[in-house]
Amino acid sequence: MNVRITGTGSALPGKILTNAELERLVDTSDEWITTRTGIKERRIAVDGEYTSTFAAEAARRAMAMAGARPEEIDLIIIGTVTPDFPFPSTACIVQDLLGATNATAFDISAACSGFLYGLSIAEKYLRTGAARKILVIGSEVLSRIVDWQDRNTCVLFGDGAGAVVLEASEGGHSLLSTHTFSNGAFWNLLYQPGSGSRNPAADSRTFDERLIYLKMEGNDVFKHAVRAMEEAAIAALNANGLTSADISLMIPHQANQRIIDATSKRLGVGPERVFTNLHLYGNTSSASIPIALDEVNRQGIVTSDNKLLLVAFGGGFTYASAVINW
Ligand code: COA
Repeated sequence: MNVRITGTGSALPGKILTNAELERLVDTSDEWITTRTGIKERRIAVDGEYTSTFAAEAARRAMAMAGARPEEIDLIIIGTVTPDFPFPSTACIVQDLLGATNATAFDISAACSGFLYGLSIAEKYLRTGAARKILVIGSEVLSRIVDWQDRNTCVLFGDGAGAVVLEASEGGHSLLSTHTFSNGAFWNLLYQPGSGSRNPAADSRTFDERLIYLKMEGNDVFKHAVRAMEEAAIAALNANGLTSADISLMIPHQANQRIIDATSKRLGVGPERVFTNLHLYGNTSSASIPIALDEVNRQGIVTSDNKLLLVAFGGGFTYASAVINW
């Protein structure tokens, strides 16, 4: 059974927040942010824009490319850590926005690996014949869980969404493999302490101690990210009998230019074969890989039969990879 990507789409807020503007919010500088992360600006949702807003728009664009009608969609999977609500799932809201009345819809929580986890689940539905046409979406409005008083984290993140239509089909780009991994031993290095059952949103302590905001041990996360992305990438190469020389383009999770550089160096993939757009969007968590994939697709950066390696890392820890024959 051939599992293929037949459409890609992305949607980003119109509002841009530059490093220069951040200098007025916290004690930081464009120079610090640029040299430590590679990020120059990020997109920020405005009032009335939610995770479902961008998810639905990215999905519409992917469906238009695939020529898929809403009622043909069997399954909608959204990777997100910033759902519209704790429940119902944002995927159900997107189902309603799209009019995808025949779909089953659910969210998954795998942080920055959310899109590749979703792709892996969707692949299994298609290979077993349990679904024929699936929307896999990564969508985030991280600006609403970022602490705008914490310069260690607020400079890193942005909002947006990306989507693909995945189907059992003869046309399109073949998904050759997906691999997913978790390492729960380090769950507390990157997490949102408040608003769940441990620190309920309604407790004044949650608010007073700023527990509702994302927390991160940046140095530790950095080291784990490089090792984990290398492991996930090697699993993907081995499963397909490939070496890094066979990869035409690597699309890594867009967290930090230094993480991307260290990972690609360890894998032996030169910078000319690594796609980056994080200078424009920052880290959009689960949205980063599908936004990049849509840009690669629409800009015609790769040609037929080229091998793409997708690799992600995120809170949990979670990490994941996929190989696409374009
Ligand atoms: N502007 C200016 N200074 C800042 C700053 C900012 N935005 N954020 C932190 N600093 C300061 C720190 O307070 C520290 O100051 P000190 O030495 O006086 O204590 C100094 O810069 C160095 O901090 P450090 O944390 O050691 O910097 P770093 O080189 O590790 O870079 C990160 C910080 C966050 C950029 C880096 O650790 C990183 O990228 N980690 C991975 C984060 C990530 O990608 N997470 C998501 C994974 S999916």
